[in-house]
Amino acid sequence: MKLHELQEEILRLKKETNTVILAHSYQAREIVEIADFTGDSYKLSVDAKGVKADNILFCGVHFMAETAKMLAPQKRVFLANKNAGCPMAEQMDAELISAVKEQDPERTVVAYINTTAKLKTVCDVCVTSSSAVKIVRAIDNDKILFIPDCNLGDYVKRSIPDKDIKLMNGGCPTHAKITAKEVKTAKAEHPNALFLVHPECQPSVVALADYVGSTSGIMDYAMKSDKKEFIIGTETSIAEHLQYECPEKKFYPVTKDIVCHNMKITTLPDVYNSLVGITDGSAFEIIMDSELISKARRCIDEMIRLGG
Ligand code: 13P
Ligand code: SF4
Repeated sequence: MKLHELQEEILRLKKETNTVILAHSYQAREIVEIADFTGDSYKLSVDAKGVKADNILFCGVHFMAETAKMLAPQKRVFLANKNAGCPMAEQMDAELISAVKEQDPERTVVAYINTTAKLKTVCDVCVTSSSAVKIVRAIDNDKILFIPDCNLGDYVKRSIPDKDIKLMNGGCPTHAKITAKEVKTAKAEHPNALFLVHPECQPSVVALADYVGSTSGIMDYAMKSDKKEFIIGTETSIAEHLQYECPEKKFYPVTKDIVCHNMKITTLPDVYNSLVGITDGSAFEIIMDSELISKARRCIDEMIRLGG
């Protein structure tokens, strides 16, 4: 089947199965094209909450589908490729963070949304990359434990110097690969370009940025800017989507190997097979018991309350 025929079939099956597709901005172009909602993790959380259809098919990584399930527990939520996990979300578990909390119980525990539902049950509030600074600022406590991403945590700490923010040693292996040296080389090659960066990058990389933001933040900034050239410091799909949206501008990934293989594991045939599988029972469904949902959801609701 040709690509556009497969896309047509997917659109037909979406209607037939009463399914909406949520796709993170790191998904490939052909998946973004057949999605009902696209964006960063904050936007997709809010979108999931408002879904009217019976089923949600998530194209992204496991913690994102889990978050959608928690926000729309009455819906059936499926992950398009069951092997798509976020390595950062697996770096810390509830036992470790409970032990750290016992040592330092006065701190409000802020969890990046890139964490498992089980870990969220022992945290106080979630943040996403687009909402972290706003939410940590709004928390009525100056003592914070920020997990797991020390790079995003460092960015929050620098943005709110009056709070005492303790970090732990976790982070995104994809963004950590970008070095300040590579950014300087890209800037020398494209002296008129602005450098737009995701806060999961190392502090030495973030320090070179003209703009720091989430995947949606970077896309909005570049689309609205009257500048014509941009170096993109995040997963390479963002430069590709932007090039497609704004053919008159130029987008350069810092280097071509900033690829999140977990985000890219999902293919259009996976989406098609999942939609077929919703009917025949073979699709990968996110199953969570109601106790886990209610305990883990508290910190997501708190995120939406403080960030909305
Ligand atoms: P966003 O908040 O930009 O969606 O980031 C999610 C993510 O996993 C980035 O690596
Ligand atoms: Fe996880 Fe990094 Fe991939 Fe985002 S880019 S899903 S944080 S591994």
